Order: sequence, then structure tokens, then C-alpha cells
Amino acid sequence: MVEKAHYTFGDSDLAAARLRLLASVFEPGSARLLARPADLGGELALDLGCGPGYTTALVAQHVPARSVIGLDQSRRLLEQATRERSDPRLSFIQCDVSSTPFPVPPANFLYSRFLLTHLREPSQVVRGWANACAPQGRLVLEETASMSGEHPAFSRYYSLVERMQAHYGQRTYIGRELEALCASPDWLVESAEIAHSALPAKDMARLHWLNLRTWSSDPFARDNFEQLAELGETLESIATGEVTVAPVSLGMGQLVLRRR
Ligand SMILES: C[S@@+](CC[C@H](N)C(=O)[O-])C[C@H]1O[C@@H](n2cnc3c(N)ncnc32)[C@H](O)[C@@H]1O
Repeated sequence: MVEKAHYTFGDSDLAAARLRLLASVFEPGSARLLARPADLGGELALDLGCGPGYTTALVAQHVPARSVIGLDQSRRLLEQATRERSDPRLSFIQCDVSSTPFPVPPANFLYSRFLLTHLREPSQVVRGWANACAPQGRLVLEETASMSGEHPAFSRYYSLVERMQAHYGQRTYIGRELEALCASPDWLVESAEIAHSALPAKDMARLHWLNLRTWSSDPFARDNFEQLAELGETLESIATGEVTVAPVSLGMGQLVLRRR
């Protein structure tokens, strides 16, 4: 049994608003990845840690499975996902995806973005996901490998997030370790790369500013970090365009595995 992780970024209305913006900023890179593997299909595709369902809809767009199910532990985010999506192929189920079995049959396609970074024992979790995947099915993973911005507010924000996640046994830049942590006799690596992109500083600052408002009340952050309000104000000034700065450089770890 994998120890239950502490999900630091919340599921409040603010967190949901951040996930909406996150979905639009990261959609082009994820769409390119999902469009790549050939011969996809089958009965069932799963989106693990689906949040409000933006990635589930993206999977449905690219993977011709009969049914696409989003799994997440947050009832609130799943209610939003169900409310906002009318595609009859999509459905959502509340469950902790850090251990199998899931309450669904083995799937032909599994996708997960920005989830492993929040788990304490990601390697063990990915090994367990082999039980939820049909033979020859695919597992596609996307996680942050690097992030850097010219303005000092970005480096300060990234170092604080990294420290807070480390406190909870989580890895901010787990995207750079994906291939190593997924090594298992059950999974064959089809492709492993770091996709680099330059993302608008305004959007990234807004994402971070919204997130800071969520995690600044976390007990570890409250006890260990100072001047978070000032950092929030600086991020806000970049987000609103009051201060203009160069794009943020992102490296996204993208891994495609096939079930043996
Ligand atoms: C950063 S969000 C990513 C949402 C979506 N994958 C995306 O990229 O837009 C992480 C999601 O993982 C969910 N989550 C975290 N730990 C989980 C667990 N153990 N089981 C199920 N869901 C989990 C959270 O509730 C949240 O919705």
C-alpha cells in the first residue's frame, strides 16, 4: 500500500480557476504528444488525476477509445468536470489513483499529467498502474522537468515550491527522472524526451500567483517562508502586464510506455 500523499495545491474555486488557465497554457504541448502514438484505440482510456477534466477532454479528442474516464480524488473537481462536459464518451469517478485496482476494467490507454509530482512514491505507483493497463496498452506521462524565468520573482517562487514539495516528500522537477522511475519489467519505453517551450510570462505569473494564494496558508509555508504577500504582488504585476518580462522557459518530461 502506497502512503497517501498530501496534495498541496488544493481544490477550491481558486485552485479550479488555476487549473483552467493551466489547461489552456499547456494544451498545445500535450496535444502534440497525444497525437503521436499510432494505433491507439480500444475500449477504454483513463486520465489519472484528471482534475476538472480538461485533460480528459483532450485525451478523448486524440484517442479513439469508446469510453474515456477521468479519475481523481477530489469530489469538487469531479463535480465541475461532470457539469462542464457533455460528450457521452466521457465520465468521471472519484478514486485515489496511487494504488490499484481502480474501479474500472483494465484500460487500453492511460494518461497522466502533473500528478506524479504530487506523490510520495511515484515509482511504486507507476509499477502498480501496470495492473490497470491491458496487454499492449499505452501509458503516457507528462511532468515538469525544468522551469526558469528571467524575473527574480520566478526563481524565488520556484525555489519555494521546490522546498515545500520536498518537505512533503514530493519532487517538483520529477519530469527529468521519468524514464528512470518508470523502469519496470512490465513497461517498455517507446519514447522519452524533454520538450522545451517558451511560455508567456503573463500566463505563468498568473498561474503562480493563483497557486501562491492557495498554498501560502499551508502550515509549512506559513512557518518557513517570509514576504509571500510581496512575492504575490510582484507576480500579480507581471500577470496584469504592468511589468513586462521575457517568457518562461519550460522543459516538459514526456514519456510513452507500452505494457508488455
Ligand atoms: C495539478 S492537477 C492536474 C490536473 C490535470 N491532470 C491537468 O494536467 O490539468 C493534479 C490533480 O491530481 C489530483 N490528485 C492528487 N493526488 C491524487 C491521488 N492520489 N489520487 C487521485 N487524484 C489525485 C488532484 O486532486 C488534482 O486534481
